[in-house]
Amino acid sequence: MDSSSDINFSPTIEDGLWILFKENVAPRVSSNSLDLTDINILELGPGEKSIFENRDWNLFYGRPNSIVALDKNVAKIVALPGELPPLPNDFLNYVQGDITEKIPGGEYQLIFDSHCIHCLIDAEDRAKAWKNIFNALRPGGRVAGEMMVAHKFMQFNPPFFYAEAERILYKIVGETLRPLRKILSHLEVEQEILSAGFEIEYFFFAKGRKFSFDPAYEYAWKTDPDCLLWIAKKPSVVICSRTHPN
Ligand SMILES: C[S@@+](CC[C@H](N)C(=O)[O-])C[C@H]1O[C@@H](n2cnc3c(N)ncnc32)[C@H](O)[C@@H]1O
Repeated sequence: MDSSSDINFSPTIEDGLWILFKENVAPRVSSNSLDLTDINILELGPGEKSIFENRDWNLFYGRPNSIVALDKNVAKIVALPGELPPLPNDFLNYVQGDITEKIPGGEYQLIFDSHCIHCLIDAEDRAKAWKNIFNALRPGGRVAGEMMVAHKFMQFNPPFFYAEAERILYKIVGETLRPLRKILSHLEVEQEILSAGFEIEYFFFAKGRKFSFDPAYEYAWKTDPDCLLWIAKKPSVVICSRTHPN
């Protein structure tokens, strides 16, 4: 066997986020064991399907009070862009919105990044998104997720092209380069999270957890981007700097 691949994907990309949530995030955000009944969650970038849809909530003492699944392109939109649904028909609602512009609602205990942040290419957009995420969390709230990160063995084959200086992964489409992902190193991600005002609680790479652009992916290749599992906390007391009157 080729020495560069011998690890099956475990878990699959689809299940990875749910496992991160139930094993590492839920026990941190719930004050009373795994009772999530008072918890309001915002999910970023659910795409076609929220990671919270059709899950077994019997694993917990109580399911979350509400989940807003926010995406700028969702098929299942039930509210106007940027607005919360007027009459939520269930605890999980899909909402259209752009996290670089406005995050609807607020005072969330948890913001869960379902592979959205690494899609933000522009540095200014990323800074705005981090600021919006920070402001939408209640003090002591958490933001968590999985993120694609660069490493020294990372390599892509056409039609993908990684511009290392810009940290941007492009797809070559005819004569043009279409930006797909921002792939920072783990140190750059760490710096971004800290600069946004968060404390880092969990920062973990699991062997065999990779992001793949191979449509028939079955194996984790050593040249694939790493998968960083991370949890950050908004401090309970936010210190505002202010100029002394004297
Ligand atoms: C890589 S997909 C992830 C989809 C799904 N959660 C998954 O893991 O397969 C990223 C999602 O983020 C959404 N997205 C990208 N930029 C966004 C932004 N600025 N605001 C809101 N959603 C955004 C995209 O529309 C897309 O659905």
